[in-house]
Amino acid sequence: MAFVEFTAKEQIGILTINRPNALNALNDQVIRELDQVLDSIDVGTIRCVIVTGAGEKAFVAGADIAQMSKLTKAEGEAFGKLGNDVFRKLETLPVPTIAAVNGFALGGGCELCMSCDIRLASETAVFGQPEVGLGITPGFGGTQRMARLVGMGKAKELIYTARNIKAPEALAIGLVQAVYPAAELMAEAEKMANRIAGNAPIAVRACKKAINDGMQVDIEAGEVIEEKLFGSCFETQDQQNAMTAFIEKRKHDPFVNA
Ligand code: HXC
Repeated sequence: MAFVEFTAKEQIGILTINRPNALNALNDQVIRELDQVLDSIDVGTIRCVIVTGAGEKAFVAGADIAQMSKLTKAEGEAFGKLGNDVFRKLETLPVPTIAAVNGFALGGGCELCMSCDIRLASETAVFGQPEVGLGITPGFGGTQRMARLVGMGKAKELIYTARNIKAPEALAIGLVQAVYPAAELMAEAEKMANRIAGNAPIAVRACKKAINDGMQVDIEAGEVIEEKLFGSCFETQDQQNAMTAFIEKRKHDPFVNA
């Protein structure tokens, strides 16, 4: 892979968009490599994935403007679909994902981090959807996920004005869950990932599916989704292990993902 790296640190995966000379901008090759890396993640071993950008300046500064500049209408639509399909694969990856946003997260970069479950930002992070300043709309899900994450009014304000926001404002509007000094960001992301990895993995994956799927339907249908997933946990060793240990007033054995 030229532009996307994946390293496993025990049960944590670290996925890095690695094209720092272009501030990790997403051309079609980067997106196709991301697709392949997502397909290769073994959720039997990896319990949480951190997504970040190489270098100190950018998470991802957007889709590749040089490549987009010559697209036809049909090619633009196909490029949007390519990114949408891969970002949806990221969003529905069975295990939790944490975006460690270490700098510019603009356009497709902001859309990439919004496809992750949780966003942690460095104090140097900058978020925005600058597309209307370039004569286009967001195209990798920005119009959809921004409104779902921060509400329709704030999403419309940010997208119509193409205004960039810094980490404290992103925290205030709920776009990110925490902000850390740049030097501490990855350690904090790994700490959270390890904490998630220490919980019962099948239950964690079921929570992700229940929240993701439930947000797409009315609450009664969402509750049915939850009931099914809740019930399925009672066929797992991890549930038996944890509840037996509680009753016997001892610490449970490590979860085995079964
Ligand atoms: C291609 C990019 C790029 C991008 C940066 N680079 N962003 N190349 N596409 N999105 C390249 C620059 O051309 C430059 O290459 C190198 O990275 C360093 O960038 P500079 O501009 O020199 O850095 P700086 O002056 O510090 O400015 C940083 C910046 C600026 C503010 C982030 O690079 C910027 O505004 N980038 C574009 C941000 C943007 O508009 N993103 C949204 C794109 S639209 P050279 O070779 O000159 O060193 C989008 C649509 C998504 O994402 C949906 C598609 C379907």
